[in-house]
Amino acid sequence: MSDKQHSIIGAGVPRIDGPDKLAGRANYAADNLPPNLAYGYGVFSTIASGKVSQLSVDEARRMPGVIDIFHHGHFPSLYRTPSSFVQGNKVEETRLPFEDERVYYEGQFVALVVADSFENARAAARRVKVTYSADQAVANLDQGVEANGTRAGSGNHSRGDAPGAFEDAAASIDVTYRTPVETHNPMEMHASVAYWDAQGNLTIYDASQGVVVERNALSKIFAIPPERITVHAPYIGSGFGSKLWTWPHAIATAAVSRELGRPVQLVVPRQQMFTTTGHRPETRQRMRLATDGNGKLVSLRHEAINTTSFTDQYVETCGSVTKSLYSCPNLTVSHETTQVNRGTPTSMRAPGAAPGLFALESAIDEMALAAGVDPLQFRLDNYAERDESLDLDFSSNHIVEATKRAAETFGWADRNPEIGSMREGREIVGYGMAACNWEALKRPCDARVSIRADGTVFASCATQDIGTGTYTIVAQAVSDVTGIALDRITVKLGDSSYPEGPISGGSWATATTLPAIAGAARKALDELKRYATGGNGIFAGAHADDLSVVDGALRYDGKQASFTEVLDAARYGSADGEAHTEAADSKYSYRSFGAHFVEVRWDPGISHLRVSRVVSAIDVGKVINATTARNQVEGAVVMGVGMGLFEATEYDTRNGRPVNNDYAEYVVPVHADQPEIDVILLDYPDLAFNEYGARGIGEIGITGLAAAIGNAVHHATGKRIRELPITLDKLMDDVPQAQSA
Ligand code: MOS
Repeated sequence: MSDKQHSIIGAGVPRIDGPDKLAGRANYAADNLPPNLAYGYGVFSTIASGKVSQLSVDEARRMPGVIDIFHHGHFPSLYRTPSSFVQGNKVEETRLPFEDERVYYEGQFVALVVADSFENARAAARRVKVTYSADQAVANLDQGVEANGTRAGSGNHSRGDAPGAFEDAAASIDVTYRTPVETHNPMEMHASVAYWDAQGNLTIYDASQGVVVERNALSKIFAIPPERITVHAPYIGSGFGSKLWTWPHAIATAAVSRELGRPVQLVVPRQQMFTTTGHRPETRQRMRLATDGNGKLVSLRHEAINTTSFTDQYVETCGSVTKSLYSCPNLTVSHETTQVNRGTPTSMRAPGAAPGLFALESAIDEMALAAGVDPLQFRLDNYAERDESLDLDFSSNHIVEATKRAAETFGWADRNPEIGSMREGREIVGYGMAACNWEALKRPCDARVSIRADGTVFASCATQDIGTGTYTIVAQAVSDVTGIALDRITVKLGDSSYPEGPISGGSWATATTLPAIAGAARKALDELKRYATGGNGIFAGAHADDLSVVDGALRYDGKQASFTEVLDAARYGSADGEAHTEAADSKYSYRSFGAHFVEVRWDPGISHLRVSRVVSAIDVGKVINATTARNQVEGAVVMGVGMGLFEATEYDTRNGRPVNNDYAEYVVPVHADQPEIDVILLDYPDLAFNEYGARGIGEIGITGLAAAIGNAVHHATGKRIRELPITLDKLMDDVPQAQSA
């Protein structure tokens, strides 16, 4: 392979799907309008716990355009999916829609109106009369622990004797952190369009981060073979995790479409995206750390409780990074859950690690100060050199370099450690830092590549591009192997009938998909070489191994023939290859590393806090696309600013009802909140992990960011805020803090 070809890996190639998106040619789920389409609109519970005691649809049925109204007394009977991650049929909320009259959370579907237009369906939905018998709701984590206690979660770990080492240590801290419910707010709303053909085959367009898993789950739920279901998600307006697994609205849409014998579309209103499509759960995390006289960690305990629903156990693995980031012989990580009257939580960008590293990296800062060591030096002194939880070497770990490079670019050496000492005009400047970390996973994957006689190449895989750049990096890999220019490569993703690919989640897609794509492209080239050397081939009689591939052509013995010429001569329309690649081995601990440095500015005169500057150095192995990779870290940093300063879904402590479940009251960062962001990508290929040496980059950027903000806020103000988000009231001396009920 020539250097020229190979240089496309790592290049800042613009998104190949960009023009279609900008021109409005890219169809998102709700853009699909099959003939005879009917529109659904939900009726959602207005209590958080209890039963539907009466449901009257008479008035609603008389509204214009109404076709049918479904509810627990009138709904097709379905089956539950085993929701097995291994079998690939996972859903997060295992209770089926309209299964019974019980209400487990506010915003649960209690009825579904289907009408001839969206407006008619919505108008009729408002005339459905529901009366409830309400129970006392469990409204938050503290109430859950008090009322029902906790249940053991997964991902626990213990080594050495953490309590014993804590007692004998030179310095120690024992602190508790809290993080609130956060809600995914992708631009594209959840939406499904479903229809069944006369043979009973289901087609569904859904905003899905995992078309194969959705197909498999629906196959269980409708008890039909997976081959009879096709899930389409060619374009997704992001998901952040909320679109990983199939939610009740998609199941209900498919069910009522079959019942009515016509296509049905359902868009989840923004308010119900806070209730019935998952959220990051509330956490309470007790951290106990201790050091010896030299500032080395000798004991570390991370005990987390997260809220889950009454129907499912979702474990937020807050201690997942704690197990291996720092060297510590005596360490315990435990996860527990407590049930509350909210919908089932789900993964949100860096599940576990995002709230977990707020606690860990804030606690490390507190521990460093208690031990009298600079927080940067403390980390350098304590970073693990190998994964002590798995007793394995890291495949590739450049966290020390990442930390030092970010520190230098940021100017950490200029930091005066004294609290509140760095003033500029009316503002007090604070510097804080934190490590970041995320696991690297590579799943099994299939892919297909066809080299066509018209000079184009077609690549397909049933993974998705949720806005991150998967279309583009797949094209880069095809171009890398074949030498065909990007504008002649067509990439098809987001269709469950393509060869099976991974969910777009966990930062798995790059590492998982590219080796399968490259393998399929090489197999297509092998086939092309067989055509070239066969009977009427252009290089008939030559040995296939003696042919080389150069820029979209085959070369043999000083002669060159384009792929088109080769196929024309052999009278084939295409040369095709399929490949299957396996999950990563377990010879190493595969993880990504990095560090964030954050500057905040606090104006005590007007009580204004902002994040003004962020420098992040990230070690994710080989960077496949410099532009889209940087964009992922920048986006994650912005989301981290939201987590640090703004985001919280609030619930009424008296009845468990969400009170700010809309775009107006749930605060996310806007342009005015953006810091200056400087992303340093280390770009060391991790070739033990896959042939490209790429580990994936979607999630790591949010981990640790909120802690770095909190640490900077402490440096500026002297206040240690252990409960996110860091809102202004928590920084003002004369504002009484709200008491939790
Ligand atoms: Mo990500 S939370 O795995 O979409």
